[in-house]
Amino acid sequence: ADDGHVPAIVVGSGYGAAVSALRLGEAGVRTLVLEMGQAWTTPGPDGRVHCDMLNPDRRSMWFKDRTEAPVNGVLFLDLANRPIPRYAGVLDRVNFPDMGVYVGRGVGGGSLVNGGMAVVPDRAYFEQVLPNVDAAEMYERYFPLAQRMLRVNSIPAPYFEGSDYYQYARLSRTLAGRAGYGTRFLPNVYSFDYMAREERGEVPKSALGTEVLYGNNHGKFSLDKGYLAQAVATGNVTIAPLHRVTRVQATASGYALTVRQITAEGAPVAEKHLTCDHLFLGAGSLGSTELLLRARETGDLPDLSDEVGEGWGPNGNVMAARNNHLLEPTGFKQSAIPVLAIEDPARDVIAEIAPVPAGIETYVSLYLAITKNPNRGRFTYDAATDRAVLHWTAAQAEPAVAAARGLFDDINDANNTTYRYDVFANRQPFAADFCYHPLGGAVLGRATDDHGRVRGYRRLYVTDGALVPGSLGVNPFVTITALAERNIARVLAEDLA
Ligand code: FDA
Repeated sequence: ADDGHVPAIVVGSGYGAAVSALRLGEAGVRTLVLEMGQAWTTPGPDGRVHCDMLNPDRRSMWFKDRTEAPVNGVLFLDLANRPIPRYAGVLDRVNFPDMGVYVGRGVGGGSLVNGGMAVVPDRAYFEQVLPNVDAAEMYERYFPLAQRMLRVNSIPAPYFEGSDYYQYARLSRTLAGRAGYGTRFLPNVYSFDYMAREERGEVPKSALGTEVLYGNNHGKFSLDKGYLAQAVATGNVTIAPLHRVTRVQATASGYALTVRQITAEGAPVAEKHLTCDHLFLGAGSLGSTELLLRARETGDLPDLSDEVGEGWGPNGNVMAARNNHLLEPTGFKQSAIPVLAIEDPARDVIAEIAPVPAGIETYVSLYLAITKNPNRGRFTYDAATDRAVLHWTAAQAEPAVAAARGLFDDINDANNTTYRYDVFANRQPFAADFCYHPLGGAVLGRATDDHGRVRGYRRLYVTDGALVPGSLGVNPFVTITALAERNIARVLAEDLA
């Protein structure tokens, strides 16, 4: 059965996908966006679209029996995680043997669940990671474009210094300073103007109401409000939520896709067969790599290169938890949006000061360290489960943990403080067995050409985090957005003119 032909199909609706959809729509190309998650627009019985971190319900996670929050609890109480009905919730954790990968599910992809930190990488490191990309063009044109489109803003210093909700970050700055470490502010796509109004009680609380991870009901300029809304407004772009692409085959002039549509409860609705001339994969590092790997290994796209599945990394992610003195509390009010990072240039670590919005004083300081771990994992295709399997071992994470440990040992020594063992599921003060920043699998210039055109095929493109070889040194979405802008500009000019 043939359910129709569209000139362009975009798989997924995260950063790379959203950029591609908008620019295709503006160029007059009729485009269909296929997204496996929901369109998060309809309020639940409580009047809210998303649930908060302290009261997770079925909206929180993608078809799980129990929530799998990164922070397990404090004082060995399982505060955060609880049983939930299986549902097309907004956050997924895809579990491989030594690595759990958090990803967003829904129209907007990771932008729905993430912390909104919008950081441009250090230029010298960017040039090292992606040597074939014209860095001057990126830093003069595409990074600024991405920042504008994503509405990146910075916290006003007086607000940061005065708000009870950032006491936890100011405390960590003080403790780091005693050990000789400086800090830097991190820009964000969460509106700090909105946050200040939350604090004054003028608008409903979101960042100040423990919302992040399972979605923000207010304040955050996610892709569904920006790029994707603009794409639909061109009149050329349609978004189909709860549509998961399971198979990609080549046709004489383009591609044929098998798509499974489900209800939000998971019941099958239809299996569809769609064709297109140009196919853009924006299903994320895991999703796009899996589609390509499956196609190569099952013979649907046998000419894909051996580089598909290679070059994966968790952006050196390590979480860490420290204990503070009774006289130096973190505060029971904590903004869910991180804005400050400790810098350790000698060890190449930035440690973002993360909230523990438990609603009670926990004396815990939590950090997401981004390190430059050079180790890389790879995916293989498992025919029995029809899934891509990530090969990444705990040993490969060791350089990341060692770098983070060096920094936090110094901070503990300078302050006579200790680590916390009750925060992560592994009962260790460091957790490198999960990540928020999956990168790679279809690396630019290897599995694709220098503009994301997949090697071995025509009119087939990767647009997302799969292009980045495993590490950026900072949070990745601004880079993914900027790179997608750069690539689609070239593709529109040369392939669709
Ligand atoms: P992304 O993962 O955003 O989107 C892929 C989309 O494709 C998803 O919506 C998925 O459902 C869909 N999909 C997958 N397979 C499919 C299929 N077969 N068919 C149809 N659809 C399919 N980054 C940052 O810069 N600053 C930050 O503060 C944070 N914080 C953060 C917190 C948390 C909790 C997470 C999980 C992640 C972050 N990140 C982050 C990371 C950031 O969100 C991430 O790097 C980007 O969302 C990746 O963008 P992509 O375009 O690669 O795909």
